[in-house]
Amino acid sequence: MNTGDPLLRIRDLHVEFTGFRGTTHVLNGVNLEVRRGEKVGLVGETGCGKSLTVKAVLGLLRGPNVRVRGEIWFGGRNLLADPAHELRELRGRRITMIFQDPMASLNPVFTVGDQLLEVIRRGPGRDGARRLSAGAAEEKALAILHEVALPDPERIMRTYPVQLSGGMRQRVLIAMALVNHPDLIIADEPGTALDVTIQEQILRLMRSLVEAKGISVLLITHNLGVVRETTDRVYVMYAGSIAEEGRTADFFRGPKHPYTQGLLASVPKLTGEGVPRGIDGMIPDYGAPPPGCRFAPRCAFAQPRCQSPPPWVNVGEGHHVACVLYDAEPAARSS
Ligand SMILES: Nc1ncnc2c1ncn2[C@@H]1O[C@H](COP(=O)(O)OP(=O)(O)OP(=O)(O)O)[C@@H](O)[C@H]1O
Ligand SMILES: [Mg+2]
Repeated sequence: MNTGDPLLRIRDLHVEFTGFRGTTHVLNGVNLEVRRGEKVGLVGETGCGKSLTVKAVLGLLRGPNVRVRGEIWFGGRNLLADPAHELRELRGRRITMIFQDPMASLNPVFTVGDQLLEVIRRGPGRDGARRLSAGAAEEKALAILHEVALPDPERIMRTYPVQLSGGMRQRVLIAMALVNHPDLIIADEPGTALDVTIQEQILRLMRSLVEAKGISVLLITHNLGVVRETTDRVYVMYAGSIAEEGRTADFFRGPKHPYTQGLLASVPKLTGEGVPRGIDGMIPDYGAPPPGCRFAPRCAFAQPRCQSPPPWVNVGEGHHVACVLYDAEPAARSS
């Protein structure tokens, strides 16, 4: 595969839960793609289904109360059709995860070195290296700690997670996610528990490392500044479906979906333009979502046609929006 080929391809993904109060239909036909070597952002307000999408990719949505439909293609295989043990094989090797809270992802009773070496032992990644000797594994661990700019890697190897600062722990997690050279890193709000400047430092570090190694990234974050700075393309999710997709620069220059426009307008500006407007209302109840466009009840431009599912309209190169407002645009725009 070459740079630019699809690596992860989610097609028409639906997730439903059945509980005491009936069925909730949360993910409603998600389509999303991460190409090889690409850094993709996934944004949207709380509860819109970002983490759920990732859980579906990682095969974490199983059980009698959950129904997952659609296709999730990764490296030529439909993961939803794969048995669980093969998915486990994939997770941690070809797809790694970085979660929001480093403390919850690290084991407090083992040293950083023990945990990092365990990850290395569970390798290899796509570099296809054979099982490493103890000395070579140690060398690999020290090298990756050095790469994530942790001072004195020998000492870090011997410390326990509690002895490190939050920022240092996050760097350890990045080291673990990178060390076996996966194809894809999924980062769900990495560093949100940290000070904003440290979070941004860490995301910048992650960007430079994945760029150097050609690893693809799916980054979920509420920080639009980070999206602007670290991604190539962006998906905006609203209430379980993709509202807009585009190249990061186009997206920030000309957001199309009324929801996206509201989302960008709600970012506080440093120019003293007063309190941001935000978007009135809340995401719908997934037990009884609005028919058609799920954003319609909050949308200032809603019209009768919004009672039907919105069209997926091409509004520029690689720029799509799920909104009737653009449906009447001349076909020439899609060329
Ligand atoms: N196991 C589950 N059973 C029932 N509903 C669930 C389950 N997991 C998630 N949901 C629902 O799915 C919706 C989307 O959740 P998700 O965690 O994907 O949101 P998110 O976009 O990641 O939000 P945030 O930005 O707050 O992390 C929520 O309304 C949540 O209540
Ligand atoms: Mg989440």
